[in-house]
Amino acid sequence: MLDKIKTLRQEVENIKAANADELEALRIKYLSKKGEISALMNDFRHVAAEQKREVGSLLNELKDYTQGKINALKEGFENTQTSDEDIDLTRSAYPIELGTRHPISIVKKEICDIFATLGFSIAEGPEIEDDWHVFTSLNFAEDHPARDMQDTFFIQHNPDILLRTHTSSVQTRVMEREQPPIRIICPGRVYRNEAISYRAHCFFHQVEALYINKDVSFADLKQALLFFAKEMFGQETKIRLRPSYFPFTEPSAEMDISCNLCGGKGCPFCKHTGWVEILGCGMVDPNVLDNCGIDSKVYSGYALGMGIERITNLKYQVKDLRMFSENDIRFLRQFESAN
Ligand code: DAH
Repeated sequence: MLDKIKTLRQEVENIKAANADELEALRIKYLSKKGEISALMNDFRHVAAEQKREVGSLLNELKDYTQGKINALKEGFENTQTSDEDIDLTRSAYPIELGTRHPISIVKKEICDIFATLGFSIAEGPEIEDDWHVFTSLNFAEDHPARDMQDTFFIQHNPDILLRTHTSSVQTRVMEREQPPIRIICPGRVYRNEAISYRAHCFFHQVEALYINKDVSFADLKQALLFFAKEMFGQETKIRLRPSYFPFTEPSAEMDISCNLCGGKGCPFCKHTGWVEILGCGMVDPNVLDNCGIDSKVYSGYALGMGIERITNLKYQVKDLRMFSENDIRFLRQFESAN
């Protein structure tokens, strides 16, 4: 019996099959009810009691090995089903999925286009900035919480270099190199040390606007804001200004628009107030003008800043901010018609 098992084992180790039919024949030869291994299993009861243990385990091993070998050969056939003749070289290729413009880009362009009609031109600045352009020149006090490690990404070993937390830094860059009249709009990406969730991300996009000239007043700001809100959200849109605080503007305000979902009647989106906040604004603080080499006794100006994600949400009701950075083509395609 032991010899027989050994011989069969060697035989099985060397089996080869050219195709599935041959393999099936081998399976029948060894493993079917009348196969050679099954025959040995039947003879097992005649094995002497003291040999049963050894023979039994060798027999089981042989059976498992054979089954494994046949399965492996079978898989080999399944994976090489296609021969060269099966490949149709004339068939057209799968189309490459084309991307679409990103909703943030679409809305960014829309905002810039509206301000362009008021004479604003685009200005850009670096995302890796220094403390002066992001904070100090803009009148942030030494101990202002925005400078805190909790809010700002600093470059390791050099707290003077950081990722800009707002596009207001571009104001300083432009004012340092140009004299009024200045009329710029600054779109760009900004970074904050936020835990990522459906309502916050560690990077997002802002648009900043700045107008400096002689005799610029709060009335000019209000006029520009109303024009923007109506162009962006529809002519029936109303605006409301609430007093606020920013280090770089005095006075400062936040602007709400009448809720564009319920038209101001009150709904869950506007928390039944009829209003939604969309931007911060104000008259440029004279300290900021002086910091940047512009004479605050001669010139005045207004500034405003808004988050592009927020405006995009108001237009398209995207509930989860993370979708903007996941590049899921199914999400992006929904904005095709807005292109
Ligand atoms: N920089 C502000 C922020 O990131 C937004 C802002 C508010 C910009 C008021 C302005 C402004 O120009 O006047 O939250």
